[in-house]
Amino acid sequence: MLEVSDTSALVVEPIPETSLDERLVADTWAIGAPAGEAERVRDSVPLWFHTFALSPGVYTPGIARDHRYRLPVLGADRFAGRSVLDVGAFDGFYSFVAETRGARRVVAVDNEQYIDWVAARFGVTLEAGAGFRAIAELTDSQVEYRRMDALDVRELDEQFDVALCFGILHRVTDPVAMLRALADRLSPGGEVVLETYGSRLPEDVPALEVHAPGDVYARDDFVYWGFTPESLRRLGCVVGLEDIEVIDQVEIDGHPRILAVLRSAR
Ligand SMILES: C[S@@+](CC[C@H](N)C(=O)[O-])C[C@H]1O[C@@H](n2cnc3c(N)ncnc32)[C@H](O)[C@@H]1O
Repeated sequence: MLEVSDTSALVVEPIPETSLDERLVADTWAIGAPAGEAERVRDSVPLWFHTFALSPGVYTPGIARDHRYRLPVLGADRFAGRSVLDVGAFDGFYSFVAETRGARRVVAVDNEQYIDWVAARFGVTLEAGAGFRAIAELTDSQVEYRRMDALDVRELDEQFDVALCFGILHRVTDPVAMLRALADRLSPGGEVVLETYGSRLPEDVPALEVHAPGDVYARDDFVYWGFTPESLRRLGCVVGLEDIEVIDQVEIDGHPRILAVLRSAR
C-alpha cells in the first residue's frame, strides 16, 4: 500500500477551479476579515474543500461544486437556540453556518478520511483539520472539533437537536449503524438533516446502489452507496426515524444527490 505522505508516485488530477455557484453559497456567510488576514488564511491551507467568503473578493478555493440546493435547510429557524452535531465536517462550513445562525452549541466531527482521498486524487498532503482550524481562529468560533468516526458519536456524552449529515452516508461501510448512532444522539424532537449520494433508480424502489471502487470519482475508493428516497425511508424506519421528508433530488456535476430530513414519528 502507498504511504499517503509519498504523493509523488500517485497519478493525480488537477485541483478544480472553484465554481461560481459555490461562491454564491459562501456569500451566505460573509466573514468580513481584513484583506491581508483573509489572504494569509486562504494561502495557509494547500487544499480547501469548502469555499469561504473571507473578505470582499477573497475566497478560499474550495473544490465542492455546488451546494446551493442545501440552502433551504440551513435557515436560522433550524439552528437558533439549538445544539448541533455536524458529522463529516471537513473544513466545517456547515458547522460555522449553524453557529452564526444562532446555534447555542456546535460539535464538528470528522475521522479525517479525506486526507487519504485528497492525497490520492490531487497529490496534496493535508494536515488534519487545517482548514477548520484556520477558519475557527479567524472567526473566533466556539465550535468544538473532534477527530472521531461518526459511528462513535455515542461516546459524546450529550444529545443534539440537529444532526447534520452531509456528504458522508454514502462513504460509510455501514449506513444503518451510522444512522442509528445519529438517532441515538438526538434529543426528543430532534432531527437528522441528511444529504447524500442519490440514485437514478425509480424513487419508490427500496434498493441501495453499490458502487465499485473509483466508479463515482476516479481514485476515490470511499463512495459505496447510492440512495433512493424509498431506501432512505426504510433505513430511517430501521433506526426509529420513520418521519422522512425528502426536500430535493438534484443532479450536480453529473452526480445524483438527495436531501432529506429524518425525524422520529413518536
Ligand atoms: C465529501 S466530505 C463532505 C464535507 C461536508 N460534510 C460537506 O458535505 O460539505 C466527507 C467528509 O466526511 C468525512 N468522513 C467520511 N467518513 C467518515 C466517518 N465514518 N466518520 C467521520 N467522518 C467521516 C471525510 O473525512 C470528509 O471530511
